[in-house]
Amino acid sequence: MAEITTDMHGDDAFEDGVRRRDFIHVATLSFAGVGTVAAVAPLLVQMAPSADVLAQSSTEVDLSPIQPGQAIKVMWRKQPVFVRNLTPTEIAAVDAVPLSSLRDPQTLAQRTKPGKSNWLITMGVCTHLGCVPLGAGPGEDRGPYEGYFCPCHGSAYDPAGRIRKGPAPKNLEVPDYKFSTDKIVQIG
Ligand code: FES
Repeated sequence: MAEITTDMHGDDAFEDGVRRRDFIHVATLSFAGVGTVAAVAPLLVQMAPSADVLAQSSTEVDLSPIQPGQAIKVMWRKQPVFVRNLTPTEIAAVDAVPLSSLRDPQTLAQRTKPGKSNWLITMGVCTHLGCVPLGAGPGEDRGPYEGYFCPCHGSAYDPAGRIRKGPAPKNLEVPDYKFSTDKIVQIG
């Protein structure tokens, strides 16, 4: 399962790989002193994530109860994720926004899966300082752009989760996810 940070922090993953190799190299040298390079193998097994950790790295969401215009909040890796079913009117409105007017230019198509542009799945974490924006719960303030609104310092996102106003520098992050079936999404 792909790590959430893979897309955003490819360099970090590379650095992790380097560190891991360095560690293995050091461990190999240590064991070589007593002539047991094979002892590295159990070490690698120990370093691998356990089955229960892997299971927690993804979560399934049933989309069928989410009506057009509604959103829900689910937890994934102890962080909120917003799952929103955009209406045709919302889709038309966000598609009509010139990319040149956006702080973090992205189309709705770039933020959704092909043929599924009504399903917007984003982290529910403001890209300013990490508060949880409003707008995914019933009756919550969706802000001036009818998307999500962060009450901490006033960042406003549009229905595509794109930053439109306030101090947040980036759009709400889209996590790795895939459609297992037409109505089941696996996040992570
Ligand atoms: S944390 Fe959201 S606007 Fe500052």
